[in-house]
Amino acid sequence: MSAPQLTDFDARAQTWDDAGKIKRAGDVAAAIRRVIPLSRSMKALEYGAGTGLLSFSLRDALGPITLADSSAGMRAMAERKIAAADVHDMRVIDLDLTRDAVPSERFDLIFSTMTLHHVPDVPRVLADFHRMLEPGGWLCHSDLDVEDGSFHGPEVDVHHGFERGTVRSWLMAAGFADVSVDDCCHIENRGRSYPAFIAACRRP
Ligand SMILES: C[S@@+](CC[C@H](N)C(=O)[O-])C[C@H]1O[C@@H](n2cnc3c(N)ncnc32)[C@H](O)[C@@H]1O
Repeated sequence: MSAPQLTDFDARAQTWDDAGKIKRAGDVAAAIRRVIPLSRSMKALEYGAGTGLLSFSLRDALGPITLADSSAGMRAMAERKIAAADVHDMRVIDLDLTRDAVPSERFDLIFSTMTLHHVPDVPRVLADFHRMLEPGGWLCHSDLDVEDGSFHGPEVDVHHGFERGTVRSWLMAAGFADVSVDDCCHIENRGRSYPAFIAACRRP
């Protein structure tokens, strides 16, 4: 049987939680704690949550968390982990903002990591996040800095990371304020180390 494609998240869900992904989620969680004043009163949504590694790393500091993902396999793994941990303030939803209407529910925090490089029209999704936030609510997005395409390989059609100035201007154009874009961590992949940024901002 051939190895699953890097973007076949249904196929990869069963083996997603390896040591590297767990470390990556911990590093991104630490960066989020540095840039956002998290609180147990915050109702949060993670977009592109996968198996929930990042949400599980932050749940002690947040109120209820909704884990949104377009992959049925990823959602099934996240559901299984939530049930196994007997957690009652995390839930999983099927959401793909390139396909679905913007939900009417509003959140105090939307966070995401390593997902927007899979989304063709990022400014449109950032505008959707703006609509999904309460006034004063926070958006926090971590992803790869510009890379040479080697992270996924030539056969995969994704953004090759993002230029920080572009991310900043997209966030401002979407209506966000207090925009910051800082170093997040390094992500190890295929024997190389890729720098990642963390962008944070607020809906006024
Ligand atoms: C590289 S994985 C990252 C998963 C998780 N954030 C992590 O760091 O372990 C990207 C995730 O985004 C999801 N995804 C990709 N495109 C999406 C979209 N348009 N809407 C929602 N989720 C999406 C995938 O199913 C996958 O779970």
